Amino acid sequence: MPTATFHFPRGFLWGTATAAHQVEGQNTNNNWAAWESEPGRILEDDKAGLACDWWGGRWREDFDRAAESGQNAHRLSIEWSRVQPQPDRWDEDALDRYRAMLRGLVERKLTPMVTLHHFSDPLWLHQRGSWENAETPAYFDAFVHKVVGALKEYVSLWVTINEPNVYTYGGWLGGGFPPGKNDLNLAYAVMGNLVRAHALAYRSIHAIQPQAQVGFAHHYRSFWQTHKNSPLDKLVARQLHLAWNESFMRALTDGRFHFLTKRCRIPEAAGTQDFIGLNYYSVDEVAFALAPGELFHKRRFPPGYEVSETGQSANVPRGFFEGLKWAHQRRLPIYVTENGIEDRVDDFRRRYTLLHLHQLWRACNFNWEIKGYFHWSLVDNFEWERGWTQRFGLWGLENETQKRVRRPSVDMYAAICRENAISYATVEKFAPELVPVLYP
Ligand code: FCB
Repeated sequence: MPTATFHFPRGFLWGTATAAHQVEGQNTNNNWAAWESEPGRILEDDKAGLACDWWGGRWREDFDRAAESGQNAHRLSIEWSRVQPQPDRWDEDALDRYRAMLRGLVERKLTPMVTLHHFSDPLWLHQRGSWENAETPAYFDAFVHKVVGALKEYVSLWVTINEPNVYTYGGWLGGGFPPGKNDLNLAYAVMGNLVRAHALAYRSIHAIQPQAQVGFAHHYRSFWQTHKNSPLDKLVARQLHLAWNESFMRALTDGRFHFLTKRCRIPEAAGTQDFIGLNYYSVDEVAFALAPGELFHKRRFPPGYEVSETGQSANVPRGFFEGLKWAHQRRLPIYVTENGIEDRVDDFRRRYTLLHLHQLWRACNFNWEIKGYFHWSLVDNFEWERGWTQRFGLWGLENETQKRVRRPSVDMYAAICRENAISYATVEKFAPELVPVLYP
């Protein structure tokens, strides 16, 4: 009987990740609330509504759940439209509430990681041209000043912007996010402004809090070519990798910003990362196609891998390892800022999580400086343009009653967090079908 245990480094952070608009509820003053009110924008015309009712105070019970199930960290985001409801007004009560939430984390021995921009924008910003507007980085910087000044007592791990690539693609390349545009030039302007905003925020945070650790959360995707011998497929996979994975990251490394056919220098962005935040979900297999509107490619999941219930992700742990390896090239500490799977039944989730954590363990064994893992997510929450159709929580949510339903993955993840390891007993108990895979 094998009893090997996959140990993680001492002091590893184990947590879950959430975002304000997805869990707080009652957000009415941002671009997503407006988007949700337009018929046909969100699957089944769902609305965030009360979400997980954190604004109503249910963060307390959910933080209890996180702490009682062995987690020692939590990543959440601050809703800009609450802190700055109008361009000339700061809401001190909102900041007090965030202070209470963060104190709540610290009191429960959960290390906070705070995201300053996670997809949602104040309505006033939206009306001023959103991130297309060259003044937006300065608006964001003012917000960052205010927030970091108010919360620095509790937080020193900051994520400036969540997934600039997903945000840009979602809103400006037809990806189903507000403002619902499809325009390469605007997408380039938006991403460039996100780079500038990050650079400003990086410096502001350090000026206020010299010991801060600042990064952004990158949605990494591997692009595998469909036909191994096709130079065109190879070219497409390479171009997608450059646009999706390298563009923002490179600008923050050496100040050179390349996005598809366009380029410029943003010198102030060079060297503005203390860690790499890595969000990983899946891999795409891509092939060349004569479809300019689709950036000359078609994509699918690599065949033979299990796919999630609404088709969002395939279980390709090797892609996660590739993402970690790619992140490691920058020789900065790495936090996995998101990873998880939609699964109402909570069967696939156990397999997906274990196989991905096993890859994370492999990466740790190469001595890559990986400091923590945040599972997406703690409780089912509002999944943007996919509304409530996808269930990513360790705990399920009954929307009508706000009741939380403990899924078996809670206990599996708790065992891993508590032991700081994946033990044979955990695999055998929660996903026995993986015993021959993890213990060949
Ligand atoms: C990521 C987002 C996060 C959540 C997960 C499932 O792209 O950052 O808010 O929606 O996907």
